[in-house]
Amino acid sequence: MIAIITAAFVHFTFISGSHFNGGTITWHPTDFNDTSNPINITITQTYSWTFGKVNCTNAMITNHSNINYGTYSTIPTDTLTCISPCNTGSSGNARGYTSTHIIPQCTDTNPIMGTTISQRTDTKLLYVNDNFTVAYQSASPYAWLPLAGSTTASAQWSIASNIDLYLRPDGYYNKPPHHQNDHQNFEPSYSAPLATMMSPLNIPKNIQQIINIPVSDANDDDLRCRWASGSTECGDACPSASLIPANTVEDFISTTSTAAMSTVPVQFLVHVVDPSTCPVNPQVIGFPVESSCTPVQAGVPYNTVIIAIDNCPSVASIAEISTLSIPGMGKGNLTQFNSTIYYRNVTWIPDSSQIGPQILCAMAVDT
Ligand SMILES: *[C@@H]1O[C@H](CO)[C@@H](O)[C@H](O)[C@H]1NC(C)=O
Ligand SMILES: *[C@@H]1O[C@H](CO)[C@@H](O)[C@H](O)[C@H]1NC(C)=O
Ligand SMILES: *[C@@H]1O[C@H](CO)[C@@H](O)[C@H](O)[C@H]1NC(C)=O
Ligand SMILES: *[C@@H]1O[C@H](CO)[C@@H](O)[C@H](O)[C@H]1NC(C)=O
Ligand SMILES: *[C@@H]1O[C@H](CO)[C@@H](O)[C@H](O)[C@H]1NC(C)=O
Ligand SMILES: *[C@@H]1O[C@H](CO)[C@@H](O)[C@H](O)[C@H]1NC(C)=O
Ligand SMILES: *[C@@H]1O[C@H](CO)[C@@H](O)[C@H](O)[C@H]1NC(C)=O
Ligand SMILES: *[C@@H]1O[C@H](CO)[C@@H](O)[C@H](O)[C@H]1NC(C)=O
Repeated sequence: MIAIITAAFVHFTFISGSHFNGGTITWHPTDFNDTSNPINITITQTYSWTFGKVNCTNAMITNHSNINYGTYSTIPTDTLTCISPCNTGSSGNARGYTSTHIIPQCTDTNPIMGTTISQRTDTKLLYVNDNFTVAYQSASPYAWLPLAGSTTASAQWSIASNIDLYLRPDGYYNKPPHHQNDHQNFEPSYSAPLATMMSPLNIPKNIQQIINIPVSDANDDDLRCRWASGSTECGDACPSASLIPANTVEDFISTTSTAAMSTVPVQFLVHVVDPSTCPVNPQVIGFPVESSCTPVQAGVPYNTVIIAIDNCPSVASIAEISTLSIPGMGKGNLTQFNSTIYYRNVTWIPDSSQIGPQILCAMAVDT
């Protein structure tokens, strides 16, 4: 979801009731080669929250704690619920689906960007030919943070994902669209389980920008993005209520097909800021290098360093290296190495439930 926030630093002055910042919901067969019926399906929910309203510490990230939900006392009982069609009986559309909790584990804290990022993964035993939509929808008074252009001070949110278990014409279950930096890097039998759209994106006012939404699909299907429409897909934050509409990614069996096989939501914020006096944006380097795939072993510690380069040390310093990472991945404090180089240490002990592709994103933000 793209929403324009016109005032710089408005992140730090949000009024209460506005803690939801978007996210993504995706799913895939737990074993991609599995064609049994029923079949285990892994559902991954990734959510962004307003920092300070929903909190995590590095200790909570590394020990897989759930978010500190503060005063939002319904979060532990909020669910990802089937919204249509939802007959769970023997001839139903959503057999085997029971509402799953949404309360996620801490994955990142980005105080300068004003976000706390979190993720959870669940497995459901579901049936071939079922086709239904699940959603996480807000209940008053819980709401999106105020969006510029929105007619509603505290907009309702809705983030919905279509789970379509028709066997594909090629005999496999669909692997829905996923988002990663480089679609070349994973084995075709695997699929990235989460979106990599960082949020918010700072864009300078009065300068035309192109926003790349990284998408990939394990089946190499034709992928298309479209604006979300209707309250199921975007709550109050749809085109008529906010300046710029929300976005959704769909995959199609061929370039001529018009029926989407699955639909994955991507809701993120755009934050309009004053143009920087530095003509060259800060850069993220270090290991793993951008768009690369690094094998790591369950149970074996993985340590690395994310480095940010400040291209204009005379006018700006690096304020944050914000991340969208993986449950259990700890990040050290932002540390200045010399006048142009800043870094954060990364430590992670993958556990066996995390076997498969995982995605780490990082973004450097200058002052
Ligand atoms: C799926 O099958 C392919 C081809 O037989 C194999 O290379 C791959 O490792 C299998 N993937 C899993 C997750 O078992
Ligand atoms: C589904 O996964 C559970 C463990 O999460 C396992 O016990 C069960 O055998 C699996 N069922 C199928 C049909 O693969
Ligand atoms: C994780 O760390 C937090 C903060 O230190 C602590 O409050 C919590 O009890 C820990 N949880 C577990 C499961 O160890
Ligand atoms: C989150 O942290 C901020 C700053 O430390 C604190 O003011 C706030 O009360 C905390 N909120 C929650 C929900 O823990
Ligand atoms: C699955 O349901 C969606 C939403 O109702 C629909 O658009 C889509 O065509 C259905 N898929 C198939 C293969 O019928
Ligand atoms: C990181 O910064 C916090 C707050 O300034 C401090 O309490 C903590 O000790 C620092 N951690 C490390 C590893 O230096
Ligand atoms: C900062 O350190 C890096 C790595 O040692 C070095 O290449 C770079 O020249 C240093 N920058 C300055 C301004 O000293
Ligand atoms: C980062 O890791 C290196 C190597 O383990 C260590 O020497 C350094 O003190 C760490 N820095 C921070 C800020 O934690």
